[in-house]
Amino acid sequence: MNPSPRLKRAYVETYGCQMNISDGELMEGILADGGYEIVRAPEDADVVLVNTCAIREHAERRVLGRVSQLNGLKLERPDLLIGVTGCMAQRLGETLLEQAPYVDLVMGPDGYRGLPEALARLERGEDVDHAALGAAETEDAAEGVVLIHGRKRGPQLAVLALDMDENYQGLEQRRADGPAAWVPIQRGCDHRCTYCIVPYVRGGEKNRSAVEILSEVRGLAEQGVSEVTLLGQTVNSYVWKDVDFPSLLRDVARIDGIGRVRFTSPHPNDVTERLVEVMAEETGVCEQLHLPAQSGDDRTLRRMLRRYTVESLLEKIELVRTAIPDIALSTDIIVAFPGETDAEFRATLGLMREVRFDEAFTYKYSLREGTPATRLPAEDFIDSDEAQSRLAELIEVTRAIQSEINEAELGRIEEVLIENRGRDEGQIRGRTRRNKVVVFDGDASRIGQYARTMLDRTTGATFVGTEVGAHAAVEG
Ligand code: 5AD
Ligand code: SF4
Repeated sequence: MNPSPRLKRAYVETYGCQMNISDGELMEGILADGGYEIVRAPEDADVVLVNTCAIREHAERRVLGRVSQLNGLKLERPDLLIGVTGCMAQRLGETLLEQAPYVDLVMGPDGYRGLPEALARLERGEDVDHAALGAAETEDAAEGVVLIHGRKRGPQLAVLALDMDENYQGLEQRRADGPAAWVPIQRGCDHRCTYCIVPYVRGGEKNRSAVEILSEVRGLAEQGVSEVTLLGQTVNSYVWKDVDFPSLLRDVARIDGIGRVRFTSPHPNDVTERLVEVMAEETGVCEQLHLPAQSGDDRTLRRMLRRYTVESLLEKIELVRTAIPDIALSTDIIVAFPGETDAEFRATLGLMREVRFDEAFTYKYSLREGTPATRLPAEDFIDSDEAQSRLAELIEVTRAIQSEINEAELGRIEEVLIENRGRDEGQIRGRTRRNKVVVFDGDASRIGQYARTMLDRTTGATFVGTEVGAHAAVEG
């Protein structure tokens, strides 16, 4: 065999949620391990992977546009391999290969271990008949591997098995430098919220070994990371052997060098007294909680299969606020779920006014093929003008509340972990423990350090501050 003249180069472009960004880092780690050089632009790459999201239709449309744009590069360089990975790849599977014949590979979230091998096979244009690719060694998993022949540019490969045994053990993420890191502790989801595609594209809940998570966080701390965010679809339902989420959180918070711990996204039902106790007691756990409410109306929550009521959600919030009075709360809300009446939408506005979340991520319901909500009566689906006007009203209410909360915080002195440069020269930016973004004057050499910062002004959502002194080194 001829020695290759240079390393193959790979470029990974990620869309979607933090879990997917984390998966993008994981793919980079796997590719680097497999002998690839990771590059920062598709023009420099031999392999381009678009790591996609399927949560809403809009996300998918954007990605399809991007993939067809990348085909422009392939027209110039026919050897370029284009892969589509992630949730949309899993959802569309081989259909995507048919729709976009210039795509060489579709690979779902459980296939990443086999990425270098899949690419090598495609490069060789090799015949593969249900061959085992990396993790896909079980018969079941092998069924997810299909090589489709007869395309313009040789074979295409689809790796789509969802594999309950793929626990990402031993795989290393290739993280961007910085003081804050995301650590996936759980993948997939055992809920079946009726609007949501996640359980179908990521499979059931799988929890990583606590031993591996703790050793990863220790390693990160040794490299200078001082803030970690534990990630999972319903992160607080985590359980591994006799380690549940509150005990894992406690253990992570006690690792030397870790000054801050966050987690996202919890399910309200798994916000327990014990969890709140750990959050209140452990100084490392930040005073911040993202608690997806989705709706403020019981009938809608029931039809969404969220498995809680407005009353029980409010009780959880009360529990958290009693233990941690200064906690910053954020949420996700979907408007115009099929059948949502105007009164039910107004109940959501009522919830927002009652709870006063520090931040809300707001969405219009987006129909996802294959989810239970698609089977609701056709006349229940809300037209897009009405949905848009509900969304606009919700945004107005939540922004006004956010501004009021943030205005009231002016003058406070907060600990900021400096994460990157600000937009303007000479400015740096970081987040407070309550997850609020603060920009202030300072040198980029300070990135990674903590600062004590006075909050001077707010744009409504973020702050401009002044440093009032370096913060003492955080104890682990
Ligand atoms: N339509 C609109 N929003 C959705 N989300 C999930 N599925 C859909 C959908 N089909 C929102 C939920 C979730 C967030 C990540 O995305 O609010 O919490
Ligand atoms: Fe989707 Fe519900 Fe699971 Fe969250 S809990 S990922 S909304 S099914």
